Amino acid sequence: MADLKTKIHNIKLKNPVLTASGTFGYGVEFDDFFDVDLLGGIIVKGTTIFPRQGNAYPRMAETASGMLNAVGLQNGGAPYFASDIYPKLLKYKTNVLVNVSGSTIEEYVACAEIINELDHISGIELNISCPNVKEGGMAFGISCPSAAAVVNAVKKVYQKTMIVKLSPNVTDITEIARAVEGAGADSVSLINTLLGMAINAETRKPVLSTVTGGLSGPSIKPVALRMVWQVSQAVKIPVIGIGGIMNATDAVEFFLAGATAIQVGTASFIDPLASLKILKGIDDYLNRHHFNHINDIIGCLQM
Ligand SMILES: Cc1cc2nc3c(=O)[nH]c(=O)nc-3n(C[C@H](O)[C@H](O)[C@H](O)COP(=O)(O)O)c2cc1C
Repeated sequence: MADLKTKIHNIKLKNPVLTASGTFGYGVEFDDFFDVDLLGGIIVKGTTIFPRQGNAYPRMAETASGMLNAVGLQNGGAPYFASDIYPKLLKYKTNVLVNVSGSTIEEYVACAEIINELDHISGIELNISCPNVKEGGMAFGISCPSAAAVVNAVKKVYQKTMIVKLSPNVTDITEIARAVEGAGADSVSLINTLLGMAINAETRKPVLSTVTGGLSGPSIKPVALRMVWQVSQAVKIPVIGIGGIMNATDAVEFFLAGATAIQVGTASFIDPLASLKILKGIDDYLNRHHFNHINDIIGCLQM
């Protein structure tokens, strides 16, 4: 067994495999499939201060090599999370992180304040990149001043590790990464979904109720890899790679590009055991190439 231990700021990970927000529920939905504690950590569903119904159906569409979603951050709100969901997560020995979103800076701050009180939560992932909400979300993540402002405000109230999740729907993602690093982000995770759309030629209507939605899955991997590679060179804080990771080889590519950890998203919809299989496959890769530690491949792309 290779040593898979890694660190994101103050969060010690026994291995670098995390689950992506919105694709793994609250973890408990997967308890019947495997021991979730085997993963480095789980990032639970997007949480906002107020409950959200999400967008009208249809809000999912299959595409060639991926899917479009417009779920729209459906959740019961942070107070409900604290009272009803959080107690169910206390059993986990692995890291549990909460993905935090909002329509205004005040909403992000209020949500982070509630999560800050929950001892068993290792950190937050600030979602400034959701393309499926009318207000806030991605709007914060596509301009340097607004990205820095929300990170700066949350940093004042949140004491543990703050990961900031970046949007790929920008011209230069390194500018945003540098802006949030300057504002106090402890790590960046990327990428969230790419803005896309689907049209039904027979009805001549958009497939999604929201017209546009977020593209995820294998189709976005090359874009995600490129962005992780660029951002890894632009910032000093750890980078977490996300986007179309379906197997261990995909994950290894992200480590080579500079990611300290990775998140498994859409793959869990296809195979609930995907994250576990990816974890085992990373270990196999390291052993096969006679590497003792995951650090031996992080950022080690041969140019
Ligand atoms: C159905 C669905 C819901 C999602 N919900 C969230 C969310 O609440 N917060 C968030 O930051 N990202 C959310 N995402 C984005 C994923 O966490 C991930 O960044 C994206 O899907 C790319 O990774 P993948 O290609 O491995 O799926 C969601 C993605 C999907 C498919």
